Amino acid sequence: MSEPSTRDHEIAHPVFATLYDWLPQAFLLAPHRSYLVADLSGRVLELGCGTGDMFPFVADIDTSAIEYHAIEPDPHMRTRAARTARDLGLDVTLQDARAESLPYPDDSFDVVLASVVFCTIQDPDAAIDEVARVLKPGGEFRFFEHVHADGWQGTGQQLLNPLWERVAGGCQLTRETVPRFVGHDAFAVDEIERLEFGIFPATPFVRGTLRRRRDSVLG
Ligand SMILES: C[S@@+](CC[C@H](N)C(=O)[O-])C[C@H]1O[C@@H](n2cnc3c(N)ncnc32)[C@H](O)[C@@H]1O
Repeated sequence: MSEPSTRDHEIAHPVFATLYDWLPQAFLLAPHRSYLVADLSGRVLELGCGTGDMFPFVADIDTSAIEYHAIEPDPHMRTRAARTARDLGLDVTLQDARAESLPYPDDSFDVVLASVVFCTIQDPDAAIDEVARVLKPGGEFRFFEHVHADGWQGTGQQLLNPLWERVAGGCQLTRETVPRFVGHDAFAVDEIERLEFGIFPATPFVRGTLRRRRDSVLG
């Protein structure tokens, strides 16, 4: 019998889920969470919503214009996210699923959101393919992610990564997220910005918007 791949392993990090909302960078992320929800409308999907840290920002906009869906595979995170949504009175359809195999039909969302999640998704190439599949042609993929740094910081991240992934719920410090996104045939780049902020080792960040090409043929 073959070994199960990392995608078959259960995702369950109870300690990380408990500590997540107390991480030191949390307050630095607020302006970028606002960027992700600006002028949202239509059917929206959030990938790996964690404890629901995006939800207060969603609750602050005109929610009559959106239908909000979120997936989260870790039951410890998902329980907290459900509680956050309930406390805010926010209508969220929350599912147990992974970004690599989204339980939605093709062309079913106007916007997909990713907030510090492509660092943790086990197979990011499969996940971006899934984002392209579930987005309607012309739909937006908005993201805010920390990525592999240049120079000595990048070398430090490579050295720290084996320990970091154990304490940070599988998070990878060395993800080359921008080439993965920009190089994907299904997307055109609306905007992309590198943000030199954050506390080492989870720095720098990128944020931006890709648009699903109307003429893209998905594999
Ligand atoms: C660093 S947390 C970010 C949580 C939230 N998006 C935020 O903005 O605070 C990463 C999240 O990705 C989730 N995750 C892990 N593997 C995943 C996968 N394959 N698909 C979707 N989410 C995943 C984790 O359980 C965790 O909740």
